[in-house]
Amino acid sequence: MRLVGLIAVVLAAAVLGGLAGWRADWAASAIAAAGFAVLIVGLWWVRARLNAVRKHQRTMLRLIESMQRQQKAVASSVAAADRAHRVETKHAYRSVSKAVESRTNTLAKQIEQTAEAEADRSRRQADRMFRQLEALQNLYHLIQVRHEMPPSRGWALSPDVLLSYVQEILDRHPRTVLECGSGASTIWAAYAVDKLGAGRVVALEHDQQFADQTRAMLDDHGLSEIAEVRLAPIAPVEVPAGTWQWYDTAALKDLHDVEVVLIDGPPKPTHEQARYPAVPVLRDILAPGAVLLLDDADRPDEQAILRRWQSEWPELTWTKLAHEKGTARLVVPTA
Ligand SMILES: C[S@@+](CC[C@H](N)C(=O)[O-])C[C@H]1O[C@@H](n2cnc3c(N)ncnc32)[C@H](O)[C@@H]1O
Repeated sequence: MRLVGLIAVVLAAAVLGGLAGWRADWAASAIAAAGFAVLIVGLWWVRARLNAVRKHQRTMLRLIESMQRQQKAVASSVAAADRAHRVETKHAYRSVSKAVESRTNTLAKQIEQTAEAEADRSRRQADRMFRQLEALQNLYHLIQVRHEMPPSRGWALSPDVLLSYVQEILDRHPRTVLECGSGASTIWAAYAVDKLGAGRVVALEHDQQFADQTRAMLDDHGLSEIAEVRLAPIAPVEVPAGTWQWYDTAALKDLHDVEVVLIDGPPKPTHEQARYPAVPVLRDILAPGAVLLLDDADRPDEQAILRRWQSEWPELTWTKLAHEKGTARLVVPTA
């Protein structure tokens, strides 16, 4: 369309040029007019192209400016994000290092407390062991044994209570010592009576195997004439608190004026407060001023037993011996 318009303009210019100068030389005038028109149109076209280029240039400039603005915005948000990240990292680092520091302090305190508790426990254990060794040394000083002695502690009496037991026998010269629960204690008691040259030990044992074992030990030590193990199976017994399970009382029939009693059985599973019947059952065969030693007196069961005895027999006095398993020493009133 543009080309058609251009040709129309050039032809119109040529016709007008020719009409204006037809008399002289109309052809030359037409060519000149057409050339002029071409020039004008060319100039107009160039101007139009220039305008288009300028417009394009302006559009491009606006585009570049917009891109620069966007770039700046992106750069500033990247910087802001970077700043925020740094702050966040700093905060995170601070809070993590604070948490690590506080956990480390707590752990250090716990380790210190555990170490102190452990050191305390070891000291107490060493003290206990030392006391047991002292008691053993005293025992072997008081008693000249003739054969290997059975182990103490655990199920057997500990050296501290064995020493009190032996010392009690040596001090009181009893005619009869009665044990509830045989074992190592029977051997030590028999040695003490043997040293005194008079008296006897009767040990109640509910279990055939342990009865045989203790008898064999008495034989080994040459003490069978002094100590006797009586098999007394567990049987029901009537006591002030009701019906209990205890040693068969038939084993006590010939006993009277018992002056020293060791209460170390029957075992705990026999009955709740298994050793409770000892005092109400033996009460009538105890000599005035007799001494009873109750082992394991620190256990809740034995504490309850002691409370029962006190309420049933308030005149029976008792003191606590500072032994590793706790021993209660009870004294029968003399009148
Ligand atoms: C505390 S023990 C008596 C210990 C004894 N007075 C002594 O000094 O060796 C009470 C009863 O437990 C039983 N007994 C002893 N040693 C035992 C063991 N190692 N395991 C299970 N029962 C045991 C026996 O029947 C014993 O009469």
